[in-house]
Amino acid sequence: MLPDLDKLREYYAEAPSDIRLEDVDLDRIPSHVSVIMDGNGRWATARGLDRSRGHVAGVDSLREAVTTSVRLGLDVLSVYAFSTENWRRPQREVDLLMHLFATTLVNELPLFHQENVRLRFLGDLDGLPDKTRRVFQSGLDATRDHTGMTFALAVNYGSRAEIARAARQIAREVRAGTLSPDQVDESALAERLYTRGLPDPDLLVRTSGELRLSNYLLWQLAYTEFYVTDTLWPDFSRWDLLRAVASYQGRARRFGGVVGS
Ligand code: IPE
Ligand code: IPE
Ligand code: MG
Repeated sequence: MLPDLDKLREYYAEAPSDIRLEDVDLDRIPSHVSVIMDGNGRWATARGLDRSRGHVAGVDSLREAVTTSVRLGLDVLSVYAFSTENWRRPQREVDLLMHLFATTLVNELPLFHQENVRLRFLGDLDGLPDKTRRVFQSGLDATRDHTGMTFALAVNYGSRAEIARAARQIAREVRAGTLSPDQVDESALAERLYTRGLPDPDLLVRTSGELRLSNYLLWQLAYTEFYVTDTLWPDFSRWDLLRAVASYQGRARRFGGVVGS
């Protein structure tokens, strides 16, 4: 997607000392950036606050990340918000997160309309509380006709469950005779993942310094460039995303081949 240069320059005025908009090549902006938003709890604990306050602060970072991604002209921004393993957290924290997802979505719909952002969800929405699921569905309906950036929110998402689900679906289709075993190739599997139709991420950002995937997009990240920052998610700003993109642009992506051949 082509960025609006005037808006972008205004958005990135007042640069800090280590990074400026001029440090990135606007002709080589990644198409799909994905973020594991991590460190909300530590951010709150470091301030003597309840973990929930970190999640609330994280919403501000997410809003800024969506706007930044639109300004930069990304095609897709995806974010990991709640994993299939996060149900193991204290019930109070889980309840707060489910409530926060619903209220945030309602509050941010005007932004999605203003910026022409189309919403997607990655994960098993059937496992969510009724209210959260209903709000998510209304968000999908409200942004269906938008033609700008896709914003994909991974909630109740687990990559192993996603791949097992795709395999199950393929098995059913083979048994029904609508798919032959010879047709079961990489694209057949990819088409049955939650990310169907989306390009694989070019860049994966993880905040809070953790060096693991935590069951996120195991299939889709096969050739993605990783960027890990110690910055905690509530502190992550437009400049951090720019730093990540600048780092990405300094990499040589070989996809198993040889550069320049
Ligand atoms: C990420 O922050 C948000 C979710 C997983 C919902 P955390 O809550 O994992 O924060 P830390 O890792 O405990 O600091
Ligand atoms: C990964 O973060 C999931 C999300 C950011 C939603 P976690 O905080 O749950 O990951 P682990 O437990 O540190 O691996
Ligand atoms: Mg965490």
